Amino acid sequence: MRPTLADVLGLDVSLLQSGMGGVAGSELACAVSNAGAAGCAGGYKLVDGALSAMLERLTTGTDRPVGVNLIPEVVGPDDLDRQVAQVLAETPGRVHLSFFGMPGDAVLERVTAAGRQLVVQVGTVEDGVHAAGAGAVVVAQGIEAGGHLLGTWRRDELVAALRAELPDACVAAAGGIGSPGDAERALAAGADGVLLGTAFVVAHESRAHGRFKAAVTAADDTDTVITDVYEIGWPGRRHRVLATAVTADPGQPKKFIGRTVVEGKPYLVPRFSSAVPTDATSGRIEEMAMYCGESCSAVSGELSAADVVAAFARVLPGPEVSENEQRMESHVR
Ligand SMILES: Cc1cc2nc3c(=O)[nH]c(=O)nc-3n(C[C@H](O)[C@H](O)[C@H](O)COP(=O)(O)O)c2cc1C
Repeated sequence: MRPTLADVLGLDVSLLQSGMGGVAGSELACAVSNAGAAGCAGGYKLVDGALSAMLERLTTGTDRPVGVNLIPEVVGPDDLDRQVAQVLAETPGRVHLSFFGMPGDAVLERVTAAGRQLVVQVGTVEDGVHAAGAGAVVVAQGIEAGGHLLGTWRRDELVAALRAELPDACVAAAGGIGSPGDAERALAAGADGVLLGTAFVVAHESRAHGRFKAAVTAADDTDTVITDVYEIGWPGRRHRVLATAVTADPGQPKKFIGRTVVEGKPYLVPRFSSAVPTDATSGRIEEMAMYCGESCSAVSGELSAADVVAAFARVLPGPEVSENEQRMESHVR
């Protein structure tokens, strides 16, 4: 019998929270992990002292399995190496590394050699097969997803294609999952669990700006668009966002439209910036990159992270393989 996602990561519920840069800080990640799912903090461009400060809050805020999300194509190989080295050195073994898109093989090997669980989000069958070969939990992202898009498949078609190729791998589904019913459909397609982004954007503990949360809550899937306009800071990858005056008219001047603060450091926000509006951002919030999945149709009201986990726990697998059974299985092999 294939272990559930909960078995692989040591969780009560087969549910991953996306490590969303700027939105998913240590507070959200710890709240999700303390509720029995896998929280994940967005590492995004943090390095050195700023990353250390976040890791410290993450590892003191929960003693349960939790993750750190890194994005290889945003930081490039040198900074990714520094980030990975810091996470491995400064966190205990229960902290897994989650990547958006494939890192190089040397990074995959370094993480597994350190005894850490890998989670890799992919948008193609080819990348999924590669990630599974490295021992990763494979997150299959469909184009229903909020944020940057790794492929062109719809979620359940990619899940089914991956399951056909990888009967024994642990596969989580991502993209457009806003209700327990959506999660049940992904499980029926062959997923072992799910990853949620947008559903956690509106949670109390998320650091999304209040007007971003309100816009997601009010929206349905027809209010989202796939575009490439929010490219400053992360060029060359399409993303699903709430439609804004900027997506409607990308010909506007590249002027500064706001200010923000990241780990104590102030920054100006240009129009077309890939940075999300957070609770530390001011200015023209409605023109900024409000990443949002088709899942917004089913997301209503502001809940705590624990409320979101509890709602999905009704339909998601728990730890089904007992330690005894796992020991027996490994003796047989
Ligand atoms: C606001 C927002 C920010 C995101 N930032 C990241 C990120 O930093 N790293 C990452 O791996 N995925 C990120 N994602 C994408 C998610 O991992 C995932 O593919 C997506 O949220 C799933 O679709 P859903 O939003 O409909 O649940 C982000 C998604 C959203 C909505």
